Amino acid sequence: MARHGIDRHLGVGAHQDAKVVAPDIPFSIWIPFHDVTPGQNSGLGFVVQPPDFILPTLPHNDVGSDYVLSRLEKVWLPTYRAGDMTIHTKYSPHFTTGYGTLSDRYSLEIRAMPRDSAPSDHLDPALYIGRRNGVPTITGTGCLPDTAARGFLASSARLAKKPESR
Ligand SMILES: [Fe+2]
Repeated sequence: MARHGIDRHLGVGAHQDAKVVAPDIPFSIWIPFHDVTPGQNSGLGFVVQPPDFILPTLPHNDVGSDYVLSRLEKVWLPTYRAGDMTIHTKYSPHFTTGYGTLSDRYSLEIRAMPRDSAPSDHLDPALYIGRRNGVPTITGTGCLPDTAARGFLASSARLAKKPESR
């Protein structure tokens, strides 16, 4: 899913996708569409060395500032170039950084999961990946006619089918 956000001041906290997205999606890929410099514009930060279970949370499903502040040496605020890719597992505590610059944040999040166990509410829009001659490639798309991502999916699938120029 493509996202647009505004960089606003945010409190300290983090969440695990296993708690707030779906427990059966193993990992997510996050890609910013512009450069991200900590302190200057918002991006995605992490608390590294994640647990392998769902942490206790506050009522709004955040692991809370105490968790993050007690592990400050494990907090990682990457510098990103546009198009850089990060992957976080469903147990990886992560957070959107916020500095109050009011700058725009554009990004793409891809939630990767096996097709046969994908939760039905995560299938629109969807890109299906399989191997063609041993090479991972887009083998199909799933998107209802009025879903905004339809054009993006169609062009991605077209690009994936293009023969390589040699
Ligand atoms: Fe998340």
